[in-house]
Amino acid sequence: MSGVASQPEILEDAPISTWFGIGGGADRLCRVRSADDVAWCVREHDAVRVLGDGANLLVDDAGVGSLVLDTAGLADVDIDATSGRVFAGAGVRLPQLITRTVREGLGGLEVLAGIPASVGGATKMNAGGRFGSIADVIAAVYVVREDGAVARIERSSLAYGYRVSGIQGVIVGAEFSLIPGDPVALRDRLKSCMAYKKSSQPMGEPSAGCCFKNPVLEQSIEGVGEAGARVSAGMLIDRAGCKGIRVGGARVSESHANFLVTGDEARAADVVALMHEVVRRVNDRFGVPLEREVVVWSRTAEAGP
Ligand code: EPU
Repeated sequence: MSGVASQPEILEDAPISTWFGIGGGADRLCRVRSADDVAWCVREHDAVRVLGDGANLLVDDAGVGSLVLDTAGLADVDIDATSGRVFAGAGVRLPQLITRTVREGLGGLEVLAGIPASVGGATKMNAGGRFGSIADVIAAVYVVREDGAVARIERSSLAYGYRVSGIQGVIVGAEFSLIPGDPVALRDRLKSCMAYKKSSQPMGEPSAGCCFKNPVLEQSIEGVGEAGARVSAGMLIDRAGCKGIRVGGARVSESHANFLVTGDEARAADVVALMHEVVRRVNDRFGVPLEREVVVWSRTAEAGP
């Protein structure tokens, strides 16, 4: 993963594809295909933004100015079914990696079934849900540092927590430590994790998954939880009466209140305004400040609450 840096092509005025299906594009975008491409980009540009699968991202209607690295071309996968060691490039789609590892009889990733993400995005923000998080099976992460050098960081040196990894630099790949098991049992587990997601979340409408992180209560709230407990943001948003509220083409899902869903006519500004409204209502009702999980890109800085 090292060598002489190449000079990849930089595209101008390129669209940015996100799961919200809305928002602006990039003034400059590079479809990186190797760690060397990434190294060249970070050496030659002051600031870069890293695009994974766009599953947790809202791009402002006016787009972004700094160079966007589209990581989809970092697509290597190497599976050792005997030891359970798996390498995947940052651009590999997590659902595809899950299907492949389950087929090979390797357990550990199937609990993440139904989470739309690239390996890089999931690794950076510790994607997870009811049945586990990606940090549980990460063995090491490969990053390109600001000076262009590639580093391998062992799991023991990563500061993983709820939806955070503390990883600096551009993730170019991850190594997983999976457990050899029975492919049929693993497939059943995958199906039941998927069924739970389908029954509780709006899988058919464009969204970026959960919009806010589940907060830790600073003080006990009767009927909600004890001080120190992490509670469902969706439950708080629901109980603050937000299901179904709209701004323009953006709406709080009736099925899971932590999902902001978008119609064809939605603009990124609608989603940002709806986020503010949800934060305000939850704060008024419970005194709990919600923190965004969805990343918002804009020309000035990160927008939104
Ligand atoms: N609930 C409501 N109303 C709602 C949504 C949820 O009352 O509108 C209640 C549910 O009935 C349940 C509780 O809240 O009693 C928890 O709900 P759920 O199991 O859906 O879990 P969550 O804490 O709301 C988390 C993750 C999801 C993940 C699910 C399931 C966060 C922010 N969310 O949601 O992750 O899929 O667990 O594993 O951590 C994501 O991060 O994008 C995401 C979707």
